[in-house]
Amino acid sequence: MSAMTHTPMRARAEIDLAALRANVRAIRERVQPHSAQVMAVVKADAYGHGAEPCARAALGAGATWLGTATPHEALTLRAAGIEAPLMCWLWTPGGPWREAVEADVDVSVSGMWALREVTAAARQAGRPARVQLKADTGLGRNGCQPADWPELVQQALAAETEGTVRVTGLWSHFACADEPGHPSIAAQLSVFRDMVAYAEKEGVEPEVRHMANSPATLTLPEAHFDLVRTGIAMYGISPSPELGTPADFGLRPVMTLAASVALTKAVPARHGVSYGHHYITPRDTTLGLVPLGYADGIPRHASGRGPVLVGGKVRRAAGRIAMDQFVVDLDGDTVEPGAEAVLFGPGDRGEPTAEDWAEAAGTIAYEIVTRIGTRVPRVYVNR
Ligand SMILES: Cc1ncc(COP(=O)(O)O)c(C=O)c1O
Repeated sequence: MSAMTHTPMRARAEIDLAALRANVRAIRERVQPHSAQVMAVVKADAYGHGAEPCARAALGAGATWLGTATPHEALTLRAAGIEAPLMCWLWTPGGPWREAVEADVDVSVSGMWALREVTAAARQAGRPARVQLKADTGLGRNGCQPADWPELVQQALAAETEGTVRVTGLWSHFACADEPGHPSIAAQLSVFRDMVAYAEKEGVEPEVRHMANSPATLTLPEAHFDLVRTGIAMYGISPSPELGTPADFGLRPVMTLAASVALTKAVPARHGVSYGHHYITPRDTTLGLVPLGYADGIPRHASGRGPVLVGGKVRRAAGRIAMDQFVVDLDGDTVEPGAEAVLFGPGDRGEPTAEDWAEAAGTIAYEIVTRIGTRVPRVYVNR
């Protein structure tokens, strides 16, 4: 932790904006040979890092687009005064289409219901909506199936002629980009090229065509097209440990999660620890209480395993992680209350990483950082 953050706090998530900016620059260098732009994906409060400060830092480091899932997330960024090109992709019927059109937010359309709602909103707003058509090239989640694509493209072009829509983008999303060589990757690329070719032949003139998330940005240059949508890499986390470490890609973790040890005490051998007594002290020892729990996003699945750097050593959560707190066995070491317990960070000081917590909880590092709750203050350093 940097010296400037040492106001006593129960816990804090330190967000290193210099690391985020360096990560954006590293991503830009990777995609510049293909002249692709970078969209900073700041959905889910920038994967738990704080949407507005991360959006501003990313733009400052050369990202030219922002991406969110929900329209609410996009409109919140606009309300904060951020004017950069901004796209949001997860719409439901009755969503705030008109607000998005008026705020110059690019909206994603995957089907006819959405095209109908956005054109109606554009008519009310008296200006064209910026619409990006999403193709389902094989993910099987959001997006328009190839069989339905001609109708969607034709209707979008008709709306363009009528002046209610400007088709600004054609885009898709990978299913298995984090598994290089997976046959679905080549298949999706081929379907995407065909769907883009059809739309362009019919008259769509998109500003951007895009498909790559972080793993494709890092490992698949042929998927960069005009724009890459990077989330996790920008936060300095590898999309998957099998692909490499953050350092292998020139990335540095942005979030450090730390707490102030709330209590330390000596306990005898065979003392039960935490709910259910899933940990019994094997000998006379000392215990430390870490004031973070699953209400803060610490995964209960990591009970008995989650690693924490306390008093110069990595200890494991002893027994169950509770709603607000968990215990570590300090092995008889003397640690003062108020000592720093680092759950994860970049790793340079011997602290665990978000990836270590993901492994302990049987999940992915995306989930570890994204779930850190609102009760944990974010402390921004290196603004
Ligand atoms: C549509 C879309 N694009 C891009 C991303 C960013 O993915 P990543 O964090 O792997 O870069 C996401 C995140 O899940 C997404 O849903």
